[in-house]
Amino acid sequence: MSSKFSGTVALVTGASSGIGYATAHALAELGARVVVVARRKDRLDSLVSAIEQSGGTALAIACDISDRASAEAAVRQTVDCFGRLDILINNAGVMIIGPVVENEVEDWERMISLNQQALLYMTKAALPHLKASAQDGTRRVADIVNISSYAGRVASPNFAVYTMTKFGVNGFTEALRQELASSHVRVGVVEPGAVKTELNDHHKGAIGDDIEAFFASIEALDAEDIADGIAYMVTRPRHAAISELWIMPTEQGHRA
Ligand SMILES: NC(=O)c1ccc[n+]([C@@H]2O[C@H](COP(=O)([O-])OP(=O)(O)OC[C@H]3O[C@@H](n4cnc5c(N)ncnc54)[C@H](OP(=O)(O)O)[C@@H]3O)[C@@H](O)[C@H]2O)c1
Repeated sequence: MSSKFSGTVALVTGASSGIGYATAHALAELGARVVVVARRKDRLDSLVSAIEQSGGTALAIACDISDRASAEAAVRQTVDCFGRLDILINNAGVMIIGPVVENEVEDWERMISLNQQALLYMTKAALPHLKASAQDGTRRVADIVNISSYAGRVASPNFAVYTMTKFGVNGFTEALRQELASSHVRVGVVEPGAVKTELNDHHKGAIGDDIEAFFASIEALDAEDIADGIAYMVTRPRHAAISELWIMPTEQGHRA
């Protein structure tokens, strides 16, 4: 356990599995107190136990952040418990793909409400605390890292609405980066290619078979590869901001 981030507090959304789970571990390893947010309480509780067993400090908040009041309450509870917030990792996301003509509108709404609206709720609620930390914290800088995707840079068939949500995350990130530059709240985006997580397991039928075949055809990334990238971004010196990090499996030429 490093003391690099001792005194700092990080909040990770979507921490019950995949990239968020690995990122919570990585930030705890750096010495941050970590607040882990997702809906599955049992998963969060075992993550908190694992972090505590390694000598770290963590708090689980089980909630649905696509509900605005719950997202705001998660930030409030973080600050009530630890007195501050230095790092926000907007990671929670869902991907439901398929041809636009066959997609269910409810699935589009789910993606938009989590991948975009929840990210906005969390960011807005966290900003006053991040600004305060950038002013008076020991690091004198604070961080927002938004998890976008390869699909936030490149459009492909079957990914239309997921791609729309992630292109939006990229645009929002860069606009906010510029707005906050002088306040030393760094805002950056990570765009992973294919990562072995539950995100890719939700599809049945032909689409599910395509995804499975695609993952079998390359050596995909592990969640820890993305957590490494996030840890790199938030450990840069105060004057250096990584505004964009595109992490691909070496063997990935196209999505599917
Ligand atoms: N895996 C990839 O190939 C890949 C590639 C590019 C980008 N990404 C992006 O990486 C991010 C993390 O995904 P992952 O791959 O790690 O997938 P994952 O394992 O499915 O993780 C998604 C996380 O989001 C949480 N979540 C879902 N709905 C939620 C809600 N309403 N409120 C709060 N939390 C919610 C899930 O927990 P609960 O179910 O417990 O709520 C889970 O912890 C996503 O933004 C995804 O778009 C992934």
